Amino acid sequence: ERIPEVEELLKKMSLEEKIGQLNLLTPGGGIATGAVVSEDVETKIKAGNVGGLFGVSGPEKIRIAQEFAVNDTRLGIPLLIGSDVIHGYKTTYPIPLGTASSWDMDLTKELAQMAAKEATADGINWNFSPMVDIARDPRWGRIAEGAGEDPYLGSQIAKAVVKGYQGDDLTKPETMLATVKHFALYGAAEAGRDYNTVDMSRLRMFNEYFPPYKAAIDANVASVMSSFNDVDGIPASGNKWLLTDILRDRWGFDGFVVSDYTSVNEMIAHGLGDLQAVSALSLKAGLDMDMVGEGFLTTLSKSVKEGKVSEEEITTAARRILEAKHKLGLFEDPYRYLDNDRPEADILTKENRALARKAAIRSFVLLKKHNNTLPLAKNAKIALIGPLANNKNNMLGTWAPTGNPDLSVPILEGFKNVAPNAKIQYAKGANISNDTSFAKKVNVFGERIAISDKSPDALLKEALDIAKTSDVIVAVVGEATEMSGEGASRTDITIPASQKRLIKELSKTGKPVVLLLMSGRPLDISEEMQLPVSILQIWHPGVEAGNAVADVVFGDYNPSGKLTATWPRNVGQVPVYYSMKITGRPAPTSEFAKFKTNYLDAPNSPLLPFGYGLSYTIFEYSDVKASSTEFTAYGSIELSATLTNTGNFDGEEVVQLYIRDKVRSVTPPGKELKGFQKISLKKGESKTVTFKVTAEDLKFYNSQLEHVFEPGEFEFFIAGSSDSEFKGSFTLK
Ligand code: IFM
Repeated sequence: ERIPEVEELLKKMSLEEKIGQLNLLTPGGGIATGAVVSEDVETKIKAGNVGGLFGVSGPEKIRIAQEFAVNDTRLGIPLLIGSDVIHGYKTTYPIPLGTASSWDMDLTKELAQMAAKEATADGINWNFSPMVDIARDPRWGRIAEGAGEDPYLGSQIAKAVVKGYQGDDLTKPETMLATVKHFALYGAAEAGRDYNTVDMSRLRMFNEYFPPYKAAIDANVASVMSSFNDVDGIPASGNKWLLTDILRDRWGFDGFVVSDYTSVNEMIAHGLGDLQAVSALSLKAGLDMDMVGEGFLTTLSKSVKEGKVSEEEITTAARRILEAKHKLGLFEDPYRYLDNDRPEADILTKENRALARKAAIRSFVLLKKHNNTLPLAKNAKIALIGPLANNKNNMLGTWAPTGNPDLSVPILEGFKNVAPNAKIQYAKGANISNDTSFAKKVNVFGERIAISDKSPDALLKEALDIAKTSDVIVAVVGEATEMSGEGASRTDITIPASQKRLIKELSKTGKPVVLLLMSGRPLDISEEMQLPVSILQIWHPGVEAGNAVADVVFGDYNPSGKLTATWPRNVGQVPVYYSMKITGRPAPTSEFAKFKTNYLDAPNSPLLPFGYGLSYTIFEYSDVKASSTEFTAYGSIELSATLTNTGNFDGEEVVQLYIRDKVRSVTPPGKELKGFQKISLKKGESKTVTFKVTAEDLKFYNSQLEHVFEPGEFEFFIAGSSDSEFKGSFTLK
């Protein structure tokens, strides 16, 4: 449906003015994630060459830019103001892979609402989030920024986040445009190397990689960001099949598509022609806005003159940008988001920090319990050790450019806050890495890896000395912030050697040891899992890191997080994910079998499966059953289980439903998550958990890419992790 106000405006606009709307620039000052930074931004805004800006913040500063657009251009069209608000604006909460581990959709939405309220208070009206790329390769650094490996869970999260940012009325000053990214398949880069080639069957795209993008579209997301990679031989930013045939014609998307940072220009390197050619290709493919590259700005009018692009195609793209501005109410009031009192009132409030803390405690995943060391007594004698134990620089995690590391609570401080009677001694124990060349690569955006003047042996000795006089050792170890995220792929996903040595030595002391493991990706911790230690995965917990970690370590909250991406035994198993198909030669047992699908040197099973996570208490599942043996497409079936808390703590459990389609026209996944519920139970309590399943839930894309269900038998189980056995079956008639 056309918006009369926008149509009127379009009629008044010259070709150059329309092209002007298609450019997104950044005046710098933020983090430049590409080789190019915009120049002469003020002049370009005044010349009507800019549709949006990013990398600027604060109502006063943004007002200046908005005034250039409103007062100094012929038609006074206001600017979109974008930003990467990935896991909180200034109140940084855990990295997305962490918040996903909470499996808590209400919380997920609430966090997005908070982020939107803070960002809009600072003048921003367009968010480059959520990233919903399915990621099954922990080498890829940006696995930290998404929800993990599963299309169903990823779709629920995509929907919750979009709703949180956009609310139900985009003209409200606490809501902002969301962007689903990176369309498409960015997480499937070959070998986990960022920006690398993607080559995938369409069947797999539709069944496994597209669902979260589609869920965001169905939730009415306002914009889509194209990805850096190619898809089927054509870079996403110039891929008409993706940006028009799928996105608009098939899914009915009516918002606008923005490129990634210079991704149009990068098509030259991909081998698609010069700047004029790739810009024309992108526009014709359905890309509406060019981020930073200025290929649209500098070549489109020439392309129109030469008949390579039509004015109508440019009008269509400009219309979409103007419609987004209209949705925000910017034509009515270009200064809607620019209230000088809001930053103080809305940003980093006590309530917001409390929500970030609540999110962090729910993101932690208890990976290993040893001798019930956890939770610790609040008056324990603790040796708090490790390069991440008293370290503000690494609490926020990747892609938190608007967060301030100085405001974060280090683990040591959090321990003191939550357990003031504990006797805590601290030692660094090891460098994050001893490798200076590695540290240099990681320290691009700040001192994430500081190498001590003391020798590794001296650091270790200090740690062992305080361990001797303590009851328990807590070691905070893992990855620095910039060891994950964009441009931070690794081929070795173990804990750096300097810290592995520290962990081994601590485990030999005979004292109980707790590892608090910080990372932006699944790690290979095969060796550490063998040691007599407890392990709590804490990701990068955000601004309330120390307080949240202490809440869980001292038992004020019983951990309930579950992994949303598989942890491999070693990099050689990658890709490894819970829904892998069953081959024609499945391995019969965990023993090696010749001429079966398995490895000589490792089992097929991962170290830690999708959905896995322990609790201080014990949850038992019984009576897993279906309400009937069969149902039809007009009806439904109820699958249920009894969950009992048989341990000694109250707790929460993520109850998961997995289904396998036994026979169908295209090979089914071994199992698929089809539902989950987060259940809270007091110790000794029991509850029946029920999932209603309809034929709609059993749909998949067939080889004609039609979304269908096929009658037949299905198996299912309900459990606390994806690695359970099937417990029942039913038939769809
Ligand atoms: O939004 C990001 C994107 O995820 C990666 N490249 C840069 C963009 C803008 O900062």
